[in-house]
Amino acid sequence: MNFERKADHIDICLNKDVNSSRKYWDDVQMLHKALPEVDMNSIDTSIELFGKKLAAPIIISAITGGFEGAEKINRNLAMAAAEVGIGLGVGSQRPALEHAELASSYEVIKEFKVPLVIGNVGAPQLVEQSKRRAFGLEDCKRAMKMIDADILAVHLNFLQEIVQPEGDTNAAGCIGAIGSIAKHLPVLAKETGAGISRDIAQELRLKGVKGIDVGGHGGTSFSAVEYHRAVGRSEETLSRLGETFWNWGIPTPVSILEADVGLPVIATGGLSNGLDVAKAISLGASAGGLSRKMLAPAMESSDAVVKELKMIIAELKAAMFLTGAQSVNRLQDVPIIVTGYLSEWMNALEPEE
Ligand SMILES: Cc1cc2nc3c(=O)[nH]c(=O)nc-3n(C[C@H](O)[C@H](O)[C@H](O)COP(=O)(O)O)c2cc1C
Repeated sequence: MNFERKADHIDICLNKDVNSSRKYWDDVQMLHKALPEVDMNSIDTSIELFGKKLAAPIIISAITGGFEGAEKINRNLAMAAAEVGIGLGVGSQRPALEHAELASSYEVIKEFKVPLVIGNVGAPQLVEQSKRRAFGLEDCKRAMKMIDADILAVHLNFLQEIVQPEGDTNAAGCIGAIGSIAKHLPVLAKETGAGISRDIAQELRLKGVKGIDVGGHGGTSFSAVEYHRAVGRSEETLSRLGETFWNWGIPTPVSILEADVGLPVIATGGLSNGLDVAKAISLGASAGGLSRKMLAPAMESSDAVVKELKMIIAELKAAMFLTGAQSVNRLQDVPIIVTGYLSEWMNALEPEE
């Protein structure tokens, strides 16, 4: 396998248009409370997630690892996550599981006291693919140990796999494989930009996963990312697939409702500020996840990441104040208005009485 693609992903995400064409969060509004009856200084943004205390309901969702430039990115993210007191996920650990010399780009995060550390392996890697054995429990344990992870994200990325030349497209047996891992390790099932529907969320819960990161559509499109790579290699069919499936997936706000099956839900996918985090929580998420938004600051310095995170928390606090929510729990009860195209999605999926 070619780990150059990890570097390609970073380059493309920084320099090309990889956004979904729709901004679903604009269709979600919170009801303003003209008399909030709380002192803004007393607002508490802290939460407990997977047994860990976070200063704010924010996760830096999986970005990278496994190539030369990744160590700096993960160091800057970890230093900032520790300073601010939020969760951090690393990118897929497959490169390091297959090539031990690549582990340092992940291991670096152990130098910092990040309150919630999330490992990462891919569901396609848990089943046999052509020319490659499946990762098993021991590999997943190694991944967690590599970064002292509190929970292991198993990413679901078949949209990406169909557009990449080296794609792993055998999805048969993944649910069982996730279940076998979840029997022994705490697992977070995580999509990567196409969202999770109710039936899949229910199956995952039955298989014993501890949480769901909906990784919904509306932000970074991995079909778009792979489209750019395919164009660069003049791969006509793959670039065509990437273009056609650019906007494939379940919008993040819809997926938050769909994945509400009694487990903590992390809402990643197109969140770009603290108001989006507040909206996601009002829809029922336990925390908001941001991935590509954190990439540019992470390329710069840990201070740049801290600065961005503090602005996101300031925005979250402002939204909590203006809706009269003194705590994150209370934020979950704030009335939400859903308009436009997004409301059509929600109406179409509403369970029948
Ligand atoms: C450069 C980059 C690399 C990513 N690599 C991974 C990965 O290795 N594993 C994973 O689970 N998700 C990965 N993701 C997906 C994100 O965690 C997230 O689900 C997705 O980008 C949507 O969030 P966003 O709109 O905030 O970017 C990656 C995202 C970016 C931008």
